Amino acid sequence: MARKISFINYKGGVGKTSLIVNIAASLAKLGKRVLLCDFDTQSNASIWLLRLDRWNKINAAGEGSIYSIFDPGKAQVKDLVVKDVVEGKTGEKLLPGLDLVPTTFNLVDLENEYSGDPKRPHYLVFFEQLKSIEADYDFILFDCPPNILRASQCGVFASNEIYVPVNPDALSLIGFTLLTEKLYKFHQLSASFRSSAMGVPAQVQGLIFNSIKAGVDIEVPKMRLQLRLNQFKTAKRAAPNAKIFDTQIRDAMVVRRAVALGLPVALVGSEATDAGPGGDNVINDYRKLASEMIQHFNNPFAS
Ligand SMILES: Nc1ncnc2c1ncn2[C@@H]1O[C@H](COP(=O)(O)OP(=O)(O)O)[C@@H](O)[C@H]1O
Ligand SMILES: [Mg+2]
Repeated sequence: MARKISFINYKGGVGKTSLIVNIAASLAKLGKRVLLCDFDTQSNASIWLLRLDRWNKINAAGEGSIYSIFDPGKAQVKDLVVKDVVEGKTGEKLLPGLDLVPTTFNLVDLENEYSGDPKRPHYLVFFEQLKSIEADYDFILFDCPPNILRASQCGVFASNEIYVPVNPDALSLIGFTLLTEKLYKFHQLSASFRSSAMGVPAQVQGLIFNSIKAGVDIEVPKMRLQLRLNQFKTAKRAAPNAKIFDTQIRDAMVVRRAVALGLPVALVGSEATDAGPGGDNVINDYRKLASEMIQHFNNPFAS
C-alpha cells in the first residue's frame, strides 16, 4: 500500500516544494514508485518538473491539470498522471518512476468559484479517484500551499502522514503551531466522511530542517521545536512517534539553480558540471533524508 504524505507548513518559502521535488527524485532513484500531486496554485513543482513549455500547454488548454476533476469534472485523476515526468531536451526519460499530477493556475478557482455537492466535498472526490491508482505507487506525495484551504484539504484528507519543512527561525515555529491547530479543526470537520479503512487522520509525523547555512548552529531552534512537538504529542495533536528528522538539508546554490534547469538536484550534475562544490553534498542530504523517510514508517492502521 502506498504511503501518502502531505508536505505543508503555514509559513511560505520554507522549502516545501524544493524538498518534495528532490525527495521524490531521491525515492525514485532508490527504486521506489513515486507520484507527486501538486496542490499549490503557484504550480512551482509542476513548472519545475514539466519545464515551462510543457506546463504552458496544459495551462493554456485548461485541461490535464488537477482542477479538471472538479470543473468540468469529467477527467479522472488517473487520466492526469504524467508518467516518468522528468525528460531531457529530446524527450528522453531521465528519471523513470517519478510521476506527476500537475496543477495550473486555474486551481485557485477551487477556493471560490467551485460549489460542489456538500454531500461529496472536494476532498472526498479526489480521495475516491486516487484510490484506483494507489496500488501503482510506493509513495504518493502532496505539495500543499501554506494553508489548509480546499486545495490543501485534498492532500491532507488523502494522507496518512504530514511532513513539515522548517527553517531555524521563530516564524517556522509559529507556522507549525498554527498548522497543528488547523489540522485538528479540519479532521473534526471531515470526520463524517472517513471510514476505518482509511486509517487514522494524518498528523504531523516529521519535521525537516531545510536550507541550513554552513556554520549556523540550530541547536536552540531545534530544542524549541522539540519542546513544542512534545506538547502536541501529549495533547494527541501530533503522531505518537513524530520526530525531527536527523537529516537536515543544507543551504546550497545548486538547489536554486535546479529550478531554472527544470531538474531535481540529483540530475543537475550531468547537465551542469559547474554546479559548485556544495552540489554533491546536498544531493547526499536528500538521499539520506529519503532513506530516513523509508525507515520512519508508521502503520496508520495499528491501534
Ligand atoms: N536547501 C536549499 N538551499 C538553497 N536554497 C533553497 C533550499 N531550499 C529551498 N531553497 C530556495 O528557497 C526558496 C523557497 O523554496 P520553495 O521550495 O519554493 O519553498 P515553499 O514551497 O515552501 O514556498 C526557493 O527560491 C528555493 O530555491
Ligand atoms: Mg511551494
